Amino acid sequence: MNLFRKKNVKSMLDMAQGKSKLKRDLTAWDLTLLGIGAIIGTGIFVLTGTGAVKAGPALVISFILAAVACGLAALSYAELASLVPVSGSVYTYSYATLGELIAWIIGWDLVLEYLFAVSSVSVGWSGYFQSLLSGFGINLPEALTAAPGVPGKSGIFNLPAFLIVMIITFLLSRGIRESKKVNNLMVIIKILVVLLFIAVGIGYVKPAHWSPFAPFGFSGIFQAAALVFFAYVGFDAVAAAAEETRNPKKDLPKGLLFSLGICTLLYVIVTLIMTGIVHYQQFNQNMDHPVSLALEVAHQNWAAGIVDLGAIMGMTTVILVMLYGQTRIFFSMSRDGLLPKVFSQVHPRFKTPYSSTWLLGTIAAFIGALLPLDKLAELVNIGTLSAFALVSVGVIVLRYKQPDLPRAFRCPGVPYLPGLAVLACLFLMSQLKWITWVAFLVWLGIGLIVYFLYSRKHSLLNQEK
Ligand code: ALA
Repeated sequence: MNLFRKKNVKSMLDMAQGKSKLKRDLTAWDLTLLGIGAIIGTGIFVLTGTGAVKAGPALVISFILAAVACGLAALSYAELASLVPVSGSVYTYSYATLGELIAWIIGWDLVLEYLFAVSSVSVGWSGYFQSLLSGFGINLPEALTAAPGVPGKSGIFNLPAFLIVMIITFLLSRGIRESKKVNNLMVIIKILVVLLFIAVGIGYVKPAHWSPFAPFGFSGIFQAAALVFFAYVGFDAVAAAAEETRNPKKDLPKGLLFSLGICTLLYVIVTLIMTGIVHYQQFNQNMDHPVSLALEVAHQNWAAGIVDLGAIMGMTTVILVMLYGQTRIFFSMSRDGLLPKVFSQVHPRFKTPYSSTWLLGTIAAFIGALLPLDKLAELVNIGTLSAFALVSVGVIVLRYKQPDLPRAFRCPGVPYLPGLAVLACLFLMSQLKWITWVAFLVWLGIGLIVYFLYSRKHSLLNQEK
């Protein structure tokens, strides 16, 4: 039975209130910006092109479906986050509720989500960065522009993708206070750029482009939803910051739901305008700047240039938040003894998990430099969706097993809404390619080997008997 041994929620709360070594200086406003920082990025700026090819103008429905799945999962996240406000996100909550093995699997899924999201977004970043450079007449040697195997390119190493992750790793290793300022500024610029797109683009919409609205029927809409789900990935990074939040019980749920709501609204409007300006058949699978393309079609090149710049900033913040979330999850897993101690060592001056930030940042940088975007994005989605499904199960289980725990935020409609969240996540997972499933199962297999060979023996829970 000790596969399902659990951490004690009360002692975790004591630890969060008392001894945590991390600084507490984030507010609800910071968290909302942190969330938006993680959400708006490669999903809307790059993957919408591929999404429009799959679903046509009905891509807007795909975005709404993906948002509903996220929203349902967000309610469960918010309940658990307000209950166990310590570092490590959903991994930590599940340790207290579903037991060590499930917590390990969730933690391992989150690695797939965060680490590969850092890499995927760095690839999107690189595409926009290169398009900006070429506007100034600067072109990188072909070998350094893309990963090997990207159709239409003869790349070997995606240098811009590699460098941006290393720069952000440096920033994060120096401390969240500095990183937070950079993040907040960039998020505001990113929102302004999206608003600019809306304001300029709306005048060029031709409603005739919306018909036929769903040329590939429900199957196209669902497949696109499973892909553009990527555009919402990251709002859960807010929950990973619990231990550095001033008033986690109130601020965490607010940060989660506000950031998700604001982004959904923006995505719906942007998608409608994009598919209204450009006929969906003009997008193609390898389109790397569909949003600014729409403005070019409208002959608003000045705005297209600004959108390029904003997209670069936007994706920078996504990389920042994702890498931040990743290091904090490893921090928690290591503090619990499930991973080697090096991942929870805090730098005496910067107060950050210094060595693990550098290690994980470097790994993510290499993955981004060497693998193509579409493969990475689907892996991120399957990792995230499986973690979401387990979290929603966790909320239901905990309500029945420990009904008296203080919950600052209660998910409405338990068990029905979390149950629906589970179904929605499983459904989106079922729409992903089989190769993604194979990679996912291999990843889980490796995780289980690590768990049984290392983590189970080193778990701090061994000492509690
Ligand atoms: N949601 C993030 C993005 O779209 C991961 O870039």
